[in-house]
Amino acid sequence: MSLRTAVYPGSFDPIHNGHLDIIERCRPLFDEVVVAVLHNESKQPLFSVEERVEIIRELVDGSADVRVESFSGLLVDFMEKVGARAVVRGLRAVSDFEYEFQMALMNRRLNPRVETVFMVPREDYSYLSSRLVKEVFSLGGDLTGLVPEPVLARLRQRLGPPVSA
Ligand code: PNS
Repeated sequence: MSLRTAVYPGSFDPIHNGHLDIIERCRPLFDEVVVAVLHNESKQPLFSVEERVEIIRELVDGSADVRVESFSGLLVDFMEKVGARAVVRGLRAVSDFEYEFQMALMNRRLNPRVETVFMVPREDYSYLSSRLVKEVFSLGGDLTGLVPEPVLARLRQRLGPPVSA
């Protein structure tokens, strides 16, 4: 019997507790979850793809059903490569919907076997984004409970002590 594999793709720059919550929610639904970090030349990421993969691997260490990979090019091609039919995306609010809807339909057009599964993170994380994590950290705001400690440590290393008013 073939494995039910899901791909959870994203930029993860950096990963935060909302992403980790989605990974945990996926695990009982699939045999294997592949967290797929996008190589995107056009974005200027804070962390390199290698760093992001390393951070996520550290966080999911011990979960035999979770793998962390990077990919470039089309998501549907990567899914074919790893034998996945389901792509998982987190939906935080209605504002996410339009972009996610477009991507889901384009991915289906590119490969009709691909199904997008939307998952809702815990309410406490519904406003959380990687962009806000970086902004709040750099301005000295408290991120306790929103990002795991290894991410905070990397933010300190990369951005230095937060600027306080
Ligand atoms: O975390 P993000 O930045 O919202 O994730 C976006 C991601 C990585 C899911 C999306 O940009 C993607 O799948 N990129 C790969 C290129 C691709 O397949 N583009 C067509 C998808 S409609």
